[in-house]
Amino acid sequence: MSETSDLQPETDETSSQVVELAARAEPAKPPRVLAIANQKGGVGKTTTAINLGTALAAIGERVLIIDLDPQGNASTGLGIDRRNRRCSTYDVMVGDAPLRDAIVATAVPRLSLAPSTMDLSGLELEIGQAKDRAYRLRSATAPLNAGKFVGVNDFSYVLVDCPPSLNLLTVNAMAAANAILVPLQCEFFALEGLSQLLKTVEQVKTTLNPDLTIHGVVLTMFDARNNLSNQVVADVREFMGRKVYDTIIPRNVRVSEAPSYGKPVLVYDLKCVGSEAYLRLATEIIQREKEIRENSAA
Ligand SMILES: Nc1ncnc2c1ncn2[C@@H]1O[C@H](COP(=O)(O)OP(=O)(O)OP(=O)(O)O)[C@@H](O)[C@H]1O
Ligand SMILES: [Mg+2]
Repeated sequence: MSETSDLQPETDETSSQVVELAARAEPAKPPRVLAIANQKGGVGKTTTAINLGTALAAIGERVLIIDLDPQGNASTGLGIDRRNRRCSTYDVMVGDAPLRDAIVATAVPRLSLAPSTMDLSGLELEIGQAKDRAYRLRSATAPLNAGKFVGVNDFSYVLVDCPPSLNLLTVNAMAAANAILVPLQCEFFALEGLSQLLKTVEQVKTTLNPDLTIHGVVLTMFDARNNLSNQVVADVREFMGRKVYDTIIPRNVRVSEAPSYGKPVLVYDLKCVGSEAYLRLATEIIQREKEIRENSAA
């Protein structure tokens, strides 16, 4: 047999496959980066990052969660233990590693994570004097999807889980983001601190990232038995208008149990009301993204 048998000219069949694949390949575009931020602690930022990320991935999006909180709750909640955090967002932020090196797969198909470690708490001391200190995350995310065509390693959404503070980490997330997603807990002091957060967003807009917008406000831990919860929903809707998503995340014990198993609630109990709510939120976010694209094209 001749050695060239592997180099047969393409048959009609293979060439038509090539044509079909080329037609299906979309040109690469940057991912949408959403920073999940609220300087108030315990309002559901991490729970939203994990479960919104999982819900978006379940719908077919390719999602990267960047854990930018030294507490590392998003990393733990997704079952990524410390041994699998050899390269973390700390290494990325200090400039020792590209973001690609920190990314690990999770048990959820199409959902990846860049984990964090406690080292991140010292970042401000280490890079606080650097000129580009607020742009570290933006520079790190810029090379994502830089290939010519969308491939399996590209992302359609990047969700950044912020710490409960308006510190340099959160400012980096805001400088890197297209938009901010604000979880607000349905409790008495829900609106307290929101104006401070909005003020910071305005400052970042004028100094670092002119295109930054508020994507939306998601009300979390809603308890229908509590009259106060309904009052908070009414107040927040009055203050923030259409920015508040229709979907409200209920207080649900399955949501709070899931992280101790290292699982998103959608994997732990797909049928519970918490999972259903996060799936609705993902659908709403995709719809809002479509509207944003249509408006910017008009
Ligand atoms: N819908 C919910 N139902 C029940 N418990 C919830 C719900 N959402 C969040 N929790 C619980 O509330 C606590 C705080 O949530 P989470 O860690 O997501 O908040 P956070 O804003 O990320 O906190 P931090 O500011 O410390 O980072 C957690 O114990 C979480 O399991
Ligand atoms: Mg958190």
